[in-house]
Amino acid sequence: MTFRVRPVNRLHGTVEVPGDKSISHRAALLGALADGVTEIHGYLEAEDCVRTLTAVGALGADVTRKGPGHYRIAGAGRHGLHEPGDVIDCGNSGTTARLLLGVLAGQPFSALLTGDASLRRRPMARVSEPLGRMGAVIVGRARATRLPLAVQGMRPLRAIAHTSPVASAQVKSAVLLAGLYADGPVSVHEPASSRDHSERMLRQFGARLRVEGGGVTLEPGDLYGTTVCVPGDISSAAFLLVAAAIVRDATVSVTRVGVNPTRTGILTVLEAMGARVEVVEAGEDAEPVASLTLGGAELRAARVGGPLVPRLIDELPVLAVAAVVARGATTVSDAAELRVKESDRIATLAREFGKMGVRVEERPDGMVIEGPQRFRGARVASGGDHRMAMALVVAGLVAEGETVVEDTECVRTSFPGFVETLNALAGGPAVTVEA
Ligand code: S3P
Repeated sequence: MTFRVRPVNRLHGTVEVPGDKSISHRAALLGALADGVTEIHGYLEAEDCVRTLTAVGALGADVTRKGPGHYRIAGAGRHGLHEPGDVIDCGNSGTTARLLLGVLAGQPFSALLTGDASLRRRPMARVSEPLGRMGAVIVGRARATRLPLAVQGMRPLRAIAHTSPVASAQVKSAVLLAGLYADGPVSVHEPASSRDHSERMLRQFGARLRVEGGGVTLEPGDLYGTTVCVPGDISSAAFLLVAAAIVRDATVSVTRVGVNPTRTGILTVLEAMGARVEVVEAGEDAEPVASLTLGGAELRAARVGGPLVPRLIDELPVLAVAAVVARGATTVSDAAELRVKESDRIATLAREFGKMGVRVEERPDGMVIEGPQRFRGARVASGGDHRMAMALVVAGLVAEGETVVEDTECVRTSFPGFVETLNALAGGPAVTVEA
């Protein structure tokens, strides 16, 4: 599938974005492990999160779709999952694979996990290593560092204190989920704080969990079904917000967005770049929610590094688009993780922006973008990476001439309705879809 993007002068309106991907995955997994019924509202019905629902169904949870984004999960209970009858295919979803590895580590049966070509290239040692130390037997490609992987779980697992070399919510969550089956408290420390949705939701499901001294400790115990309301995904909203920041005449509001402080780095940076950012809080359940309004202005360069990076790691492709139009040199450092996402996002950005006449200086752990530069319409490709596909569309909105983005099916993994939402804001077909 190909997107044809025309430059626009105006973006106006108020929209919603689909449910948060990270929170949706966790609601399905914890619902499956809980005793009793979990109702989920606003579940992200995109390919990645459907993989997690299918997986928990294969492991014995009873999943019913009650309406758009509304699911009822009758939990199997912490000790009630059963061996799946087939290989579990995680598709493109790193969160499905890594969090499931944590769950499977504590089961008294074996299971096999695989994924698509992109996921089979992504590093798994960061989870298979601590889970192995806890007692799970994980074997597979490249010494159990790449999918497909086979897991033979163990119960109880050994309690460990894990210090992760990377700030990763997937690693932290995998170890905490395995910790539900440990013989004592399990703790995780990381070099900077990653998103804390697992901690918040584990508490909501009745887990005993302490956050202190830059680490988190979980006591093993049962979980109890509850109701989860999934807010809109700030990582999806980011494409619309950056578009609003760079299109000349734009004011865009996105309502009901999750604004967990571990995810709002994009707002911090857009504000520092000079965009007009308005946040109107709209309540807080387990997760804070707000309406976000963004308007364009002359943007200036930003420095992105250190503990800010995990707070906006998924937004860096679209933030790079803002950096191109901003005045001055934007530097991104401490972001080597970008190289092991759905694609090597540093290399993909440099290559595809290059086709649009924009120079990106690659660094091992980031990039430097000297602005302002002008995007020239060109034929570009996502490399199968959903966030690259959408970032290239946003670049096309301010390019000279038409931009054709190839290989865009991947947008379905996280943001169904992306094109329709953008066109609603543009007041016409800024993006057309070709088979
Ligand atoms: C996610 C954590 C992040 C993020 C990914 C979703 C999660 O990955 O990039 O899109 O839901 O836990 P890492 O844990 O690898 O940093």
